[in-house]
Amino acid sequence: MKNTYLIRGGLQGRERLRILSQVMQSSGVALLRRAGVGAGASCLDVGCGGGDLACDFARLVGAEGQVVGVDIDETKLSLAQSEALSLGFRNIEFRHLDITKAVVGEKFDFVHARFLLTHLPDPAAALARMAAALKPGGVLVLQDIDMEGQFSWPASPAMDRYKDLYTRVARCRGGDPFIGRRLPALLSAAGLHSIAFNVVQPAATSGDVKLIAPITMENIAGSLINEGLASATEVEQIIAELYASAHDPNMLMSVPRIVEAWAQA
Ligand SMILES: C[S@@+](CC[C@H](N)C(=O)[O-])C[C@H]1O[C@@H](n2cnc3c(N)ncnc32)[C@H](O)[C@@H]1O
Repeated sequence: MKNTYLIRGGLQGRERLRILSQVMQSSGVALLRRAGVGAGASCLDVGCGGGDLACDFARLVGAEGQVVGVDIDETKLSLAQSEALSLGFRNIEFRHLDITKAVVGEKFDFVHARFLLTHLPDPAAALARMAAALKPGGVLVLQDIDMEGQFSWPASPAMDRYKDLYTRVARCRGGDPFIGRRLPALLSAAGLHSIAFNVVQPAATSGDVKLIAPITMENIAGSLINEGLASATEVEQIIAELYASAHDPNMLMSVPRIVEAWAQA
């Protein structure tokens, strides 16, 4: 079966996620606290990638809590497991699980997914499987992108073309690059209640925030070329221009608008 995930996986994919997680860490931890994650809780992170957020969960729940991270990428899972152990976490377990096909056996106080539903052709079905993993009264927490919101100032043709190509290739693979705005409606349709949401959007003139666009462009290059959406030459040119913007202190660059939404079972 064709792999629909459009961003390069494995080691390079993990390194992109490390930068993304650093950019998102303060808002992500604040979200988990706001959703009620605390000492002793059991938590499931679906599409956990390199396990950065699973480690944030583990810090919040402490030694009495339990964290399970699931993903389809075996390389990222094994890197995540060894990094978590080297950081001293004994209460995180990483497992291979495709949320489009399988349910997780046990029940959790919190189930979370960041930047996962945007890639799935049937996000509602995945959400139903995630909701099924909640204990009664448990909380489902989502964070996902709305590509329309990503911006630079001054305007940049390379940024505009990157957004256009990202949107096209995501749609080609059956995803929704604007899914952020649909998260509250998806939670409601999944039968959850007490729905809350918030919007965050890191933007900066320097630092890692500005690397997200060029690194993502590098990691979708293969998919863009395979789908015939751009030539290798054009892709290289856009990557070079995005890196030049990232190193230009007069250029403000953002990540996509990110919607956080959470609700109770
Ligand atoms: C953009 S990454 C985000 C990773 C992590 N949530 C984070 O924010 O750092 C999306 C992750 O979802 C995983 N993924 C994609 N499709 C999946 C599926 N059907 N089931 C489980 N994980 C999946 C990918 O392998 C990737 O690690």
